[in-house]
Amino acid sequence: MLILGIETSCDDTGIALYDRAAGKLVAHAVHTQAAMHEAYGGVVPELASRDHVRRLVPLARRVIGDHRIDGIGYTEGPGLAGALLVGASFAHALAFSLGVPAVGVHHLEGHLLSPLLSARRPDFPFLALLVSGGHTQLMRVDAVGRYELLGDTQDDAAGEAFDKTAQLLGLGYPGGPALSELAVRGAPGKYRLPRPMIATGLDFSFSGLKTAVLSVLKNEKTNPADLARAFLDVIVEVLVAKCARAVEMTGITRLVVAGGVGANRQLRAALDAEGARRGFDVYYPEPELCTDNGAMIAFAAAFRIESGVRSHAFSVKPRWDLQH
Ligand code: KG4
Ligand code: ZN
Repeated sequence: MLILGIETSCDDTGIALYDRAAGKLVAHAVHTQAAMHEAYGGVVPELASRDHVRRLVPLARRVIGDHRIDGIGYTEGPGLAGALLVGASFAHALAFSLGVPAVGVHHLEGHLLSPLLSARRPDFPFLALLVSGGHTQLMRVDAVGRYELLGDTQDDAAGEAFDKTAQLLGLGYPGGPALSELAVRGAPGKYRLPRPMIATGLDFSFSGLKTAVLSVLKNEKTNPADLARAFLDVIVEVLVAKCARAVEMTGITRLVVAGGVGANRQLRAALDAEGARRGFDVYYPEPELCTDNGAMIAFAAAFRIESGVRSHAFSVKPRWDLQH
């Protein structure tokens, strides 16, 4: 069974073909709009929608090639309403013309199942740290479709904190990778930033961090690399502490890390070290499947389509909780 996956929730047009029987990707391609939005310091929704319209057909042709597809999965939400509508309408039109089923997928479900596309995959149950531009959550995953929210951000997402802080440092958009590169050149311990909500519970809060960065920056002598280092160290420390606490509270010793921030090298090194110390294993998606892509959507859709789920009328859900 070949499933086409379509991702258009934000600023990446992602298309992939997943072979359910063989359990592997046949092809995948992503067009990222980051350069187009950079001039504005963030994603401009209308520009994003129009670019998805331009990219979808050529990208889909390239990925599908001569293959005969048996079903289509698309991101139904959460995300930008206009951008989601482009993918949903394309998916339904193509499915109708081919006479195959279409099914809407939750974007975060795609992210948290994405390590199951790797050679080294976790068994159920596992914990998942979802760290993207829009979300910072700790989930318990007992099976495909069985998710329990353990912790969530009270304000900014981790990726958002990266992007906003990078903007304060004049590093462009999206700022996560540039900020991390700058931090490598910085010395540790030069600036003391708050470690929000580190001592208790599984919830997160990151908005105070950018305010603290802003106040440090008011001093003209601030060293940007040292400040980037202080910021990165705090984010990593908080994320690692929450993961370790979730392992302790649930007794589950498999942790999946997904979403754009999961590509961060420093975070990975710190989580691996903590896992080795405390006896838990950490699983990551392949590097190119950490950020938004069609492969994770095809993968999540395959389970649904196989068990007979269909989306007959199409809708999009710009706001949508995974656990319900
Ligand atoms: O999952 P994703 O591609 O899109 C959303 O669904 O939001 O995540 C994008 C986020 C951005 O905030 C970006 O700055 C961050 O992931 N990001 C990183 C890295 N690569 C991407 N943050 C830190 N270090 C990275 N290497
Ligand atoms: Zn995402």
